[in-house]
Amino acid sequence: ERIPVICIDGPTASGKGTLAAALARQLGYRFLDSGALYRITALVALRSGLRIDAGHEERIAALARTLPVRFESDRVLLGSDDLTEAIRSEEVGMNASRVSALPAVRAALVALQHSFRRLPGLVADGRDMGTVIFPAAALKVYLTASLACRAERRYKQLISKGFSANIADLCADLQERDARDGTRSVAPLKPAQDALLLDNSCQTMDQTVALVLAWWQEKQ
Ligand code: C5P
Repeated sequence: ERIPVICIDGPTASGKGTLAAALARQLGYRFLDSGALYRITALVALRSGLRIDAGHEERIAALARTLPVRFESDRVLLGSDDLTEAIRSEEVGMNASRVSALPAVRAALVALQHSFRRLPGLVADGRDMGTVIFPAAALKVYLTASLACRAERRYKQLISKGFSANIADLCADLQERDARDGTRSVAPLKPAQDALLLDNSCQTMDQTVALVLAWWQEKQ
């Protein structure tokens, strides 16, 4: 049975998450926020007293294999813990990027990601959805935006969630994460060969959503 998958990949704060969630809502599809899995893994590893480096790689991977994670409406739950807000801090994001560079951790999260592909369809948001996790996806979009746009969006997002933030620090953080995500040995951030590239620096989110929905309709 063919279960449609739409992949939205791209760098940090390019608007992927907002785009993917809007598509899932409008199409009535399931939604996979794969970055949340790396964020949860990082948070749980730190709370368990593990160092995020190769020395603790196997222990972090073992944690990742048994995460009792659930996404319920807009909440991210781990067992009975609601981690929705805690995983959104810039510090957890930075640690998620470090966790995600460990090959055993990436391997440990593959089956969990595949389990989100169910009827009537899936929109998957991440860095390697189209290249590694769902290579046969019907539509792959690689979403980018300028560094200045991304820093400004991340700034507004953090402030609206009650975190403090500053644009210069965010630019530096984004560049550091882009560099690590793009150069790691396993599943580096890059567009799939058959991905459609979309720079949404000069678009509103509504325009971006409408454009991708039109691409999807053309595929039907
Ligand atoms: O997208 P988000 O910022 O929540 O992702 C957090 C981190 O998890 C990213 O910086 C990236 O290093 C990592 N990640 C990944 N592969 C994915 C999704 C996220 O390596 N599919």
